[in-house]
Amino acid sequence: MDLYEYQARDLFEAHEVPVLPGVVVTTPEAARAAAAELGCSVVIKAQVKTGGRGKAGGVKLAADADEARAKADDILGMDIKGHRVNRVLVTTATDIADEYYFSYLLDRTNRTFLAMASLEGGVEIEETAATNPEALVRVPIDPLTGVDSAKAREIVAAVGLPEQAAEAVESLWSAFVAEDALLVEVNPLVRDAGGAIVALDGKVTLDDNAGIRHVAHAGLRDHDSADPLEARAHAKDLNYVRLDGRVGVIGNGAGLVMSTLDVVALAGARPANFLDIGGGASAEVMANGLEIVLADPAVRSVLVNVFGGITACDAVADGIVRAFALLASRGEPVDRPVVVRLDGNRADEGRRILGAAGLPGLELVDTMDGAAARAAELAGREA
Ligand SMILES: Nc1ncnc2c1ncn2[C@@H]1O[C@H](COP(=O)(O)OP(=O)(O)OP(=O)(O)O)[C@@H](O)[C@H]1O
Ligand SMILES: [Mg+2]
Repeated sequence: MDLYEYQARDLFEAHEVPVLPGVVVTTPEAARAAAAELGCSVVIKAQVKTGGRGKAGGVKLAADADEARAKADDILGMDIKGHRVNRVLVTTATDIADEYYFSYLLDRTNRTFLAMASLEGGVEIEETAATNPEALVRVPIDPLTGVDSAKAREIVAAVGLPEQAAEAVESLWSAFVAEDALLVEVNPLVRDAGGAIVALDGKVTLDDNAGIRHVAHAGLRDHDSADPLEARAHAKDLNYVRLDGRVGVIGNGAGLVMSTLDVVALAGARPANFLDIGGGASAEVMANGLEIVLADPAVRSVLVNVFGGITACDAVADGIVRAFALLASRGEPVDRPVVVRLDGNRADEGRRILGAAGLPGLELVDTMDGAAARAAELAGREA
């Protein structure tokens, strides 16, 4: 899960990484009040999960509260690379002497962590990395010992950062470890006119697999910018990702679903979603899955691709039959064709159950390629 800048700022503050005072608001009037409260010139910053906000006009200086209101009014509602701005961060404007780049990330290739930093921070870091890669210093970090004060001084010296940055570098590591982050990035990390080090912009990616250890992380999830169907699916514990085609896809096992997307594409259609209903595939899970897939108005046909393992095909077939009944009883009967391919453990019994049930709009096809071709045909030609 990626965080907004203001969430990264709060997380940094909790781990004693120096940040500026800041308030996140959703209206121009609240921005005016926040600036009045801060009592100095401020910077109004669009909160969107994409880079290049500054260049897009999403970061603006305001000398006083009235100007803060006007700038917030300009920025709220803006579209930045397809992301609508619903919130702005109102933060103190600071007098910057130098801008650096600093990050910690997981280095999968070398099975370790990495500090990456540069004296040439700021909005052009991507360009610096491309044209002048030597300006980006990499320091490997032993995951067992991490970054203590000696290691922090070593990193700071290797990069050429001012000595007083060591404390921030150490605190940032504590944040990275304590929150189970995959990435913390500060661009720019600045030295202000008074010589103080401050994290001016933050990007954080948290490891969702560690969510169980961080009850508070659930509160950071962004409900309003997520796709509403994905949010509904998530609430039902379904592993669903919306795509842009017309063939709804349901399968058991992530690998099988991924290859189902491929065969749908090979059949000349585009999948409308990824949905892995996992091993159990009970009637309720199948009903929830069908409900989510059919809630997408773009879906013209559904391909259910199941390989029976521990949960055998007859149990899955039973699940499908009961899912149709369950959806009908919820007042949302299955109203588009469903192509089912069952293979694996007790496939014959599963097919017999579905055949006998005579569900409206349900067709059985024996092979994966054949089922994908039929689902693509039922979805019709795409414009
Ligand atoms: N509080 C502030 N005071 C003074 N200048 C600021 C402040 N915040 C940002 N700036 C200036 O604006 C530039 C861009 O800000 P920031 O890094 O937050 O946005 P960005 O880099 O455009 O966004 P992104 O990191 O999403 O690409 C900074 O490099 C800095 O020069
Ligand atoms: Mg930045």
